[in-house]
Amino acid sequence: MLQNQAEEIYIKASDEYKRLCEKKLNLVMARGVPSAEQLDLALGVLEALHARTEFHNSDGNDSRSYGVWNGIPEMRKIFSDMTGVPMELIVLGNNSSLQLMFDCVSMGFSHGFGGCEPWCRQGKVKFLCPSPGYDRHFAITEYFGIEMIAIPMMNSGPDMDMIEKLVEADESIKGCWCVPKYSNPTGITYSDEVVKRFANLKPAAKDFKIIWDNAYCVHTLRETDIKLLSLYDECLKTGKEDMTLIFASTSKISFPGAGVSAVGTGPKTHEEIKKRFCTETIGSDKLNQLRHVLFLHDINGVRALMQGHRKIIEPKFRLIIDMLNERVGGLDIAEWNDPQGGYFINLNVMKGTAKRVVELCKKAGVVLTDAGATYPYGNDPDDTNIRIAPTFPPIEELKQAAEVLCVAIKLAAAEKLLDKAA
Ligand SMILES: Cc1ncc(COP(=O)(O)O)c(C=O)c1O
Repeated sequence: MLQNQAEEIYIKASDEYKRLCEKKLNLVMARGVPSAEQLDLALGVLEALHARTEFHNSDGNDSRSYGVWNGIPEMRKIFSDMTGVPMELIVLGNNSSLQLMFDCVSMGFSHGFGGCEPWCRQGKVKFLCPSPGYDRHFAITEYFGIEMIAIPMMNSGPDMDMIEKLVEADESIKGCWCVPKYSNPTGITYSDEVVKRFANLKPAAKDFKIIWDNAYCVHTLRETDIKLLSLYDECLKTGKEDMTLIFASTSKISFPGAGVSAVGTGPKTHEEIKKRFCTETIGSDKLNQLRHVLFLHDINGVRALMQGHRKIIEPKFRLIIDMLNERVGGLDIAEWNDPQGGYFINLNVMKGTAKRVVELCKKAGVVLTDAGATYPYGNDPDDTNIRIAPTFPPIEELKQAAEVLCVAIKLAAAEKLLDKAA
């Protein structure tokens, strides 16, 4: 937006904003959750055990009972095909992969990895946080008092020059959060080169872990899915499988509240996880695993189901992107992506206005993710990034929310250029 356009845009956007406020909207475009229509796609999971009298899984265990600490083989096979980790090195959890991540960080903290001192006895420990990133990753690190170092995200993945330099020089760096496919929130998928560079890291810390959160590994918004190079296979080549902790879940395949999660890693770390998990529980919810297997069958079943999700959510992404293009495009005050998968549109508004945009939206009845949430400590140094989550609201509501968003982006930019106090 040019300075001389700003006055005109300010007047127009203020008027429009007032009109929108009068509608007294009450809309939420904040969290990446599936809509009810998407959840309905997996109702077959609930039917799968109906009237069934046989509950044994392929290793002979009765899924109704105790046992099989790492989860039933058929479900581990599905996660193996999703993540590239051999099924014997996959451990299943209950509905939340985030809980497994928390548990693994907790393990580093209380007991340590690879025979190293627990992190809690090593003084200050640090994690690398490619940013913008997933706020709940940062919340886990903050909970344990781990110092977070923001790493810039590029189109091919995080800044690997910076990661290599830091990890190879600083023994107190113990982990790096990654969402390698259809990343939250940038939507990008790590390039082959980035995956290889991760596998080739030579960390100063022997207990360094790449936390590979593959939450969106099958979540394409196109007919064909992008292929992410397997970190596990690349690490096999470098002999560093134990540097990985690879996560996935069916939260956005079946039900976030009642799905199955998984963690895969190298054989030594797997043994460490085994020791902890077998102390913690006599086994996860195998009936849930069994009904997921009966419903999904295999990775092809998963992919077919994801096409059903795509048909519901792709038009929602399209609507927001088209409205941004039409109403904000060409003004040079904001940028957004057109993601090929995942759950978010990554919006960068004029520097110094993200908080104001979120505030204006809120006052007009549209709740967005807090500005700054996508950065460690909630601190976006440029105050520019906003995560848009279009999956949950019905399309009519999304349209109204996007109207407010577009006006708020323009109004906040004009205010900034004209130096008008909010
Ligand atoms: C990157 C990422 N990881 C993990 C999760 C949560 O996964 P789960 O439901 O398996 O705990 C989310 C949910 O939004 C996510 O975006």
